[in-house]
Amino acid sequence: MKVTQVEFVISAVSPKQYPQGSLPELALAGRSNVGKSSFINKMANRKNLARTSSKPGKTQTLNYYLINKALYFVDLPGYGYAKVSKAEKAKWGRMMEEYFQTRQQLKAVIHVVDIRHKPTKDDQEMFSYLKHYEIPVIVVATKTDKIPRGKWQKHAKEIRVILGMEKEDTLILFSAETGQGKEEAWTAIWKKIRD
Ligand code: GTP
Ligand code: MG
Repeated sequence: MKVTQVEFVISAVSPKQYPQGSLPELALAGRSNVGKSSFINKMANRKNLARTSSKPGKTQTLNYYLINKALYFVDLPGYGYAKVSKAEKAKWGRMMEEYFQTRQQLKAVIHVVDIRHKPTKDDQEMFSYLKHYEIPVIVVATKTDKIPRGKWQKHAKEIRVILGMEKEDTLILFSAETGQGKEEAWTAIWKKIRD
C-alpha cells in the first residue's frame, strides 16, 4: 500500500481517550524491545513516527497512528521486561485487558516476535490469550536482517511450533532494517480488515 498521509493522534491510557469513530485498527503486541514501534515506522515509511529505543520499555501508553485516514496502528507497551515491578505489570495487564476486551474496531493484533529467539513463555501466553478470545492475529517474526537467510525457515518453523500456530495462521518474516515482508504485511492487514 502506498502510504501518503500519517498522523500521530493520541497516547491513551484509558478507553475514554481512544479515538471516536469506526475506523479499523491494528494493534502491535510483543515483548519490550522486539521492534513493534519500528514495524509501524517501516510500514508508514517514516523514520521517527513511533518513538523507538535500544532500551526496553519505551512505549508505555496506547499510541494511535492514523494511516491515510483509513486505519489506525495502535502501538502497545511491550511485555516481558524483567525490571518491571509487580504493580506496573498489573497496570499493564489491566490496560491491555480493557483494550482487547472492549475495542470493537480492533481488526487484528500484529504479534511481533524476534526471528532470532525461541518465543518466550510470555509470548506463548500472549498468543494463547488472543486465540482464546478469538481475536485475529498476524504473527510477525522481525529482525530477519540479524540472521543468515539460510536460517529463516528453521526459525520460522520453531516459532510456529512453540506458539502453537495452526496452518491457517499467518506468519510473516519481516525486517524494519531492509523492508522485507512489508508488502506481505500490508496484504495480510487488508485481508483482516475485510474479513
Ligand atoms: P518497547 O516500546 O520498549 O516495547 O519496544 P519496541 O518493541 O517498540 O521496539 P523498538 O521498535 O523501539 O525497537 C527496539 C530496538 O530494536 C531498536 O534499537 C530498533 O532499532 C531495533 N530494531 C527494531 N526492528 C529491527 C529490525 O528489523 N532489524 C534490526 N536490525 N533492528 C531492529
Ligand atoms: Mg515501542
